[in-house]
Amino acid sequence: MDIQQKMRSGFQTVEGGLFSQVEKADVGGAAEALARAGGDNLGWADPFAPDDSLPQALKDIAIERIRSGLSAHYTHPTGDPQLKAAIARKCERQNGLAVDPNRNVLVTPGSDSGLLFAMMPFIGPGDEVLVLDPSYPSNFLNPQLLGGRAVSVPLEEENGFRLTRAALEAAFSPRTKMVLLTNPNNPTSTVFSRQELEMLAAFVREKDLVAVVDQAFEDYVFDGREMVTLASLPGMWERTITVCSLSKGYALSGARVGYLVADDRIMDVLYGSAVNVIGATNSTFQAVAAYALDHPELLEEPRRAFDRRRKAVHALLQGIPGVKSPLPESAYLTWADVSALGTAEEVAAYLMREAKVCVNAGTPYGKMGAGHIRIVHGCFLDEARICRAMERVRAALLQLSREKGLAEKTEEA
Ligand SMILES: Cc1ncc(COP(=O)(O)O)c(C=O)c1O
Repeated sequence: MDIQQKMRSGFQTVEGGLFSQVEKADVGGAAEALARAGGDNLGWADPFAPDDSLPQALKDIAIERIRSGLSAHYTHPTGDPQLKAAIARKCERQNGLAVDPNRNVLVTPGSDSGLLFAMMPFIGPGDEVLVLDPSYPSNFLNPQLLGGRAVSVPLEEENGFRLTRAALEAAFSPRTKMVLLTNPNNPTSTVFSRQELEMLAAFVREKDLVAVVDQAFEDYVFDGREMVTLASLPGMWERTITVCSLSKGYALSGARVGYLVADDRIMDVLYGSAVNVIGATNSTFQAVAAYALDHPELLEEPRRAFDRRRKAVHALLQGIPGVKSPLPESAYLTWADVSALGTAEEVAAYLMREAKVCVNAGTPYGKMGAGHIRIVHGCFLDEARICRAMERVRAALLQLSREKGLAEKTEEA
């Protein structure tokens, strides 16, 4: 019997690595092997990992919650009321959304589950979801798992990865049901401007679509950019689900706390199915998250660190023949075009071998990720360690560039 044949078609091609070689930086044993060998893993979008960056106030809350025994129990399946109230305050302060904590918020165990959950009521066999390309790999898989299909909306490098009406129109079909936007985008770090989002909102309204917006990276945008929440634009609240997380901003990835924000009509359905799908999110870390969201000053020091790091890493990637890497607009992801030096996998493997640094090959991020690598410069508390790792990356890329005949043999030889 072939058990796979009994599965829904969207699951039949999924590979988890038990029977095939899955060697992405965040799956499989490559990063762990590298760390054991004394190398540096710059492939996990997990701020300051693997170092201890948990503020004492947050540790104290977690410890107290365990000491009191409350940690052993369920919270309300849709979320701890205190956390939902803190989320509503944050949404008003940071997202320009007036949110009723009892009607418009659903707490989820991280935003990965939230992303699938947001799509589930809407996407089924034959439905198409417009997905930015490149963007977060799960954006391509989730529609498939639900029986639908992700359709790429290419973001052109020459155009600064900006979103255009022409690209949306080209991807649109009568089967299009949803637009999935990652803003700020992972891996390009692009922060979409108010003008781009107004254009997108008009497109979504005109075509009568639903929008899911992943704002996992919303907390750090640089150079005076405005972080606009699509749901706050006219006519978008009733057709948009906003997906947020404490993983990327508050460096609480292990806490597994994310949340969805949406209109009553959508939320009623999500609440009705939440108990079945989610149960409830980790009670200890919901208490921690509530405190964190009421203390946005916790973001200030990391913001300064990520700002310094993006500039330092950007500077180290300049002047390498065959490498193009713009200054990141947000958070702690550097995206580099290395297509002149080889495929994404070849360059990532070369860096692993020659620089002892694990980066992400760009291919899982969509067709436009071919020939690119992603570097997470938010890892480690020690900024000097990032710089040392990136100096090795620079030396290795220069060496590869020479091997490809692109760089002068003498340059930094
Ligand atoms: C763009 C984006 N969204 C969502 C997630 C999921 O994060 P979590 O489930 O920790 O909230 C990630 C994680 O890497 C991400 O990069």
